[in-house]
Amino acid sequence: KKKADFQGKRILITAGPTREAIDPVRYLTNRSSGRMGYALADAAVARGADVALVSGPVSLEKPEGVEFYPVQSAAEMYDRVMDLKDKADVIIMCAAVADYTPIVCAEHKMKKQDALVIEFEKTRDILAEVGKTKHAFLAGFAAETQNLEGYARDKLSRKNLDMIIANDVSGTETGFDSEYNAVSIYTRDGKAVHFTRDTKRNLADSILTEIAKISG
Ligand code: C5P
Repeated sequence: KKKADFQGKRILITAGPTREAIDPVRYLTNRSSGRMGYALADAAVARGADVALVSGPVSLEKPEGVEFYPVQSAAEMYDRVMDLKDKADVIIMCAAVADYTPIVCAEHKMKKQDALVIEFEKTRDILAEVGKTKHAFLAGFAAETQNLEGYARDKLSRKNLDMIIANDVSGTETGFDSEYNAVSIYTRDGKAVHFTRDTKRNLADSILTEIAKISG
C-alpha cells in the first residue's frame, strides 16, 4: 500500500481545455482531454492530499474526493486560480489554456457570410502570473511538437517555476486524447528525469514522487 506522502498538503491542479466564445453557439478550443490533470488529481487524493481541481469542460468523471471548480473560459480559470492559489502548498498547472480569445463575443448567433474575420486578443498567462508572487511549489506543463527540452527549460525560467513536465504531442501514441503519455521532467537544478510511455495514471504517481523529493 502506498504511503500517504501528501497527507496535510493542499494541491491545486488545473486541467482540461478552455472554451472561448465567439457567439452564443460557437467557441474556440483545443484538443486537451483533461486526462493528465484528472489522473494527477486522482493520484494526489490517493496519497492523502487535499485537492482542488479547476477544470475546463471535459467529458471525464470528476475524480472522487476533490474540491471541484468547473470553469469555461481562460478568464474564468484565471479568476478561480487567483482565488485558490494562496491556500495551496503545491500548484500543478496542467490545463491547456487558450492563448487567444475573441475580443468581442457576438450577442446573437452570427449569420452565414462568404468570409469571416474574427479578431483575437491574448489571454492572460495564469501560470506566469502565479509565478510572479510565488508561495507554493509550482509545476507547469509544456506540450510541444519540436525542441522539447529547449522550450521546456525556457518556460521553467521565464515563468519562475520549480518544475516543468514536458510531453511531445507530435505523435499519436501518446499525448492529446490518449490514455498514455511519455514525459520528461526538468527542474531548476538543471537535472532531467525521463519517463517512457505509460498510462497517465502511473505517470501521475511518478510526477508526484518527483515533486515530493523536492518540495519535502
Ligand atoms: O507557454 P505555454 O502555454 O506552452 O505554457 C504551458 C503551461 O502554462 C502549462 O502549464 C499551462 O497550464 C500554463 N498556462 C497558463 N495560462 C495560460 C497559458 C498557459 O496557466 N494562459
